[in-house]
Amino acid sequence: MSPVVEVVGVGAATAKGDPPWWQSAVVYQVYPRSFADRSGDGIGDLAGFLDRLPYVAALGVDAIWLSPVFRSPMADFGYDVSDYCDVDPLFGTLADLDRLVGGAHRHGLRLLLDWVPNHTSDRHPWFLESRSSRRAAKRDWYVWRDPKADGSPPNNWTAAFRPGHPAWTLDPSTGQFYLHSFLPEQPDLDWSNPEVRAAMHDVLHFWLERGVDGFRVDVAHCLGKDPALPDDPEHLVVVPHCALNHHPSTAPILAGLRRLVDGYAHAPMLVGEVFLVAPHEMSDYSGPGAFHLAFDLPGSLHTPWDADAWRSRTAATAERLGRDAWPTLVLSNHDTPRHRTRFGSEARARAAAVLLLGLPGTPFLYAGEELGLEDAAIPPERRLDPGGRDGCRAPLPWNDAPGHGWDAEPWLPFPPEAGRRSVARQEADPGSMLLFYRRLLAARRASPALRAGDWRDLDAAPGVFAWERRHGGDRRVCAVNFASAPRTIALVGDWRVEAGTHRTQAGAAFDGRLAADEAVVLRPD
Ligand code: NOJ
Repeated sequence: MSPVVEVVGVGAATAKGDPPWWQSAVVYQVYPRSFADRSGDGIGDLAGFLDRLPYVAALGVDAIWLSPVFRSPMADFGYDVSDYCDVDPLFGTLADLDRLVGGAHRHGLRLLLDWVPNHTSDRHPWFLESRSSRRAAKRDWYVWRDPKADGSPPNNWTAAFRPGHPAWTLDPSTGQFYLHSFLPEQPDLDWSNPEVRAAMHDVLHFWLERGVDGFRVDVAHCLGKDPALPDDPEHLVVVPHCALNHHPSTAPILAGLRRLVDGYAHAPMLVGEVFLVAPHEMSDYSGPGAFHLAFDLPGSLHTPWDADAWRSRTAATAERLGRDAWPTLVLSNHDTPRHRTRFGSEARARAAAVLLLGLPGTPFLYAGEELGLEDAAIPPERRLDPGGRDGCRAPLPWNDAPGHGWDAEPWLPFPPEAGRRSVARQEADPGSMLLFYRRLLAARRASPALRAGDWRDLDAAPGVFAWERRHGGDRRVCAVNFASAPRTIALVGDWRVEAGTHRTQAGAAFDGRLAADEAVVLRPD
C-alpha cells in the first residue's frame, strides 16, 4: 500500500457517514477547444477557461472534467498523446494548468483530467523507440505481431472510426503489424508489460501531486487484452474490436490504479469510460477494487425518448450494480450528438435534465447542454474529425454580439441560434434553459435525497416515469411526462414544486397535472 500523500485542494475525504464526494457531486465536462479562447486564435485555451470559471461555479456543479490538454499531434483532438506530463501549446502551458487547478479549487470545484492510457500518439517517444527495431528496448511496450502467412493482419479485429478497416497497420521497416484500436496514429500500449504499468502510474503521480482531483480514464475496458489475440466472431466484425474487448486481465490493472489513487488523502476519483455492447459486463468496472465510477455509455446515450425505456434502464442499472457500486448519468458528451439534437426539442431536453439530475447516480453534464445547444451543421469543407463528431463539439456562444465572445472565427461553426442561446441572453431571461439548470442544480444541492438517496419507481400513468428518492427524513418525487399529451398523476400526500421545466417560481402546490414533455421535482408539503 502506498503512503497517504497530502495534497492541498478542495477538501479531503468526507466525514464519516457522509457519502464520498464523487457520489453526490455533479461533474461538468469541458471540451477546452470549444469553451473559451483568451489567445484569440479561435481555439479555446486554458487561460480562456480560467476566465470563465465563475460561470461554471455559478451553475452549481461540484467538479470539472477537462477533456485532453496534453501534448498531442491532434490526429484525434488530443486523444493521441505525445507527452502525458505537459500541456499542448495550443492550450497553454503547465503553469496555466496549475493556475486552472488552483482557480478551480478556490471556487470550490474539483478538477479531473482526461487520461488516455490505452494508446499513445504514434509520435510519442515511447512508440518512436518501439518501432525503431524488433530489438528496441521498448518494442514490447506496444502490441507487435507478424503478418499471417498470406501477409494479412494477425487477426480480424477492426478499428474504430473506419468501419471494416483492420485494427492493424504494417510497419514496413520491421515487417510487423502494430495494433491500434482507433486510428493508425494511436498505437495500443501493452498493459501486460510491467514497465508500461509503471510508466503510466508515474504519470498519475505527476498530476496527483500537482493537486488534480482524479481522472476520466479513456476506453478503460480496452486495457487488458487476450494475449492470444483471438479473432472476433465473424458476425461481430462490423463492431470495432474496442466495443467487444472485455478481458479478465483488465481487473488487476484497475485494482492497481485504484490503490494508487486511494493513497492520496485528497480523495481523488477515477471514472472509467466504458463502451461495451454487452451491458452485463459493465458491473466489473466500478466498485471496491475497481473504479469509483464507470460510464455506461451505450445505456446512457442510446436510451430513446420513452418512459418505459428509461424506467427499465434505471432498474437494470440498479440491479446490475447492487449496493457496492454507484451509477453514472450522462446525456451528452463530445463523441455523440447532443441530447437536444437527439430528442428533437428544447422541451424534451429540459425534461431530460430532470432524469439526469433526479435519478440515482453521479451526473455528468456536457458544457453547453445547460444552454440547450444543438449540434452545429458542419459544411463538408469544415469537417475535421475522423470520427464525424464535429457537430457536438461546436463552440459555446458567450453573448449575442458578432463573434459571440470569440475574438477570432472559432475552429468550428457555432451551433444554431447561437445569439439567442448565448450565455448573456439566457442569464437575462428567467424562463431560459440556463436558469432552469441553475434552479435544478440548486434543488439537487439542497436535497440529500436527490444527491444520495435510494430510489423507488412510482407507477404513475402511461407515458410518465415518476420516482421517489429518500435519504433519512428527506424525500423528493420526480416525474417526467414523455407523452405528447397532458397526463395526470396521483401521488399519496401533498407535494409542492421545487423545480419544474415549465415554471420559474418554486413552491406552488402540485395538482398532479403534467403538460406534454413537462417534468417536475417535488417536495412534500
Ligand atoms: C473515447 C474518447 O471519448 C474519444 O473522443 C476518442 O476518440 C477515443 N476514446 C479514443 O481515444
